[in-house]
Amino acid sequence: MAARNPLQELIFEPMQADDLQQVLEIENQCFENPWSKTYFTLCLKRPRSYEYFYVARREDTVVGYIVFNILHEEAHILNIAVPPTYQRQGIGKYLLISALEMMQADAEREVFLEVAVSNLPAQYLYRQFGFRICGIRKNYYGRYKDAYVFRKGADTDAT
Ligand SMILES: CC(C)(COP(=O)(O)OP(=O)(O)OC[C@H]1O[C@@H](n2cnc3c(N)ncnc32)[C@H](O)[C@@H]1OP(=O)(O)O)[C@@H](O)C(=O)NCCC(=O)NCCS
Repeated sequence: MAARNPLQELIFEPMQADDLQQVLEIENQCFENPWSKTYFTLCLKRPRSYEYFYVARREDTVVGYIVFNILHEEAHILNIAVPPTYQRQGIGKYLLISALEMMQADAEREVFLEVAVSNLPAQYLYRQFGFRICGIRKNYYGRYKDAYVFRKGADTDAT
């Protein structure tokens, strides 16, 4: 019998209003300063053409999500999260690969993101995809909570 590959059971698709409760639970589990229900609701109600809210779904369960925007020759990753019970199973990579494919579908784009200086797991993930530090934002996540700006060039391959 063929080995089961849980990643093959994932679907990458736009976040729906019905996903909100699961998304908020994950957001609250994953971040000290989570995005609010009001913010998510507003974004889903009035989607902007350049902003993308996508989930990784396994059957009816949201097992992660990513938010990014695409603006001309640049793209920005604004949020990515996988709930603790599903971490270290490749879902973060799956979300990032799927989003990067969309960002590069019709043009070669530079991709930027902010990540807390203390968030090593996320930095390891981004480095695997060729992201490198290009700047620092002081107090970005609160007092003394600096962020690195990571950049991936249009021609930078994953390492
Ligand atoms: C960052 C995050 C999205 C990674 O999701 P994930 O599904 O666990 O990631 P994957 O299983 O696809 O792992 C991908 C790579 O990330 C790195 N990584 C992930 N978790 C790690 C950990 N706890 N320690 C060290 N490296 C880690 C590794 O390089 C890993 O590759 P490997 O398995 O080949 O070693 C997840 O940890 C998360 O949601 N964290 C909380 C929210 C957050 O910090 N978001 C990022 C904001 S900038």
